[in-house]
Amino acid sequence: MTRGKFIAFEGGEGMGKSTQARLLRDALIARGIEVKLTREPGGTPGAEAIRDLLLHPPGKGWGAEAEALLFAASRADHVASLIRPALAEGKWVICDRFVDSSRAYQGIAGKLGDEAIRTLHDIGSDGLYPDLTILIAVEGLEVADRLRARDGDTSDAIGGRDETYHSSVNAAFDAFAQAEPGRFARVDGAGSVEEVQARVLGAIAPLLHEAAS
Ligand code: TYD
Repeated sequence: MTRGKFIAFEGGEGMGKSTQARLLRDALIARGIEVKLTREPGGTPGAEAIRDLLLHPPGKGWGAEAEALLFAASRADHVASLIRPALAEGKWVICDRFVDSSRAYQGIAGKLGDEAIRTLHDIGSDGLYPDLTILIAVEGLEVADRLRARDGDTSDAIGGRDETYHSSVNAAFDAFAQAEPGRFARVDGAGSVEEVQARVLGAIAPLLHEAAS
């Protein structure tokens, strides 16, 4: 059985990631590929329970370290009980956010540092990285516009952080994509949903090619 491909969507708030993840799933299914669409934080019952703790924290909220550990714990469960088994069965996995979100949000914007986040990922998930990470980014879009246009929950503990935090997240994603051009495809999120989808399909074409050969 050939291992399936693992694709993650990343980006700041309101970049249309979830819509594009769904459209890519549909496009791959139309090509006869078995696909598991999932998201982070979440994807398994345990990880979804941790998602709720992270986005709607009890009490005063989590400190930066506890938050990073909870993300790593939810990812460990997701990787062990959903992502690795699906890939081993030959399915393609599309994940709406993955470890690069922890690197950008907790590592850079949250100031824990990239090494700490990568170490947590090595411990929790044996350092699994996607075959391709699609970064959806929109040049010059104000954070306030992004928050208005976002495709997720507008009132959670992380999405609701200030503009400095979210600008730092966006800059971090750009820096990651520049540092590892082989692992990332940066897709311009400007324009219609269909235009962005065409760019996403262009970005994953090499994976389809690889899988067919
Ligand atoms: P979600 O509603 O899925 O947001 P979005 O629609 O923007 O993807 O909520 C996930 C939030 O959690 C989002 O603000 C990003 C944040 N997050 C982290 O801070 N670290 C992580 O590792 C992940 C996966 C998400």
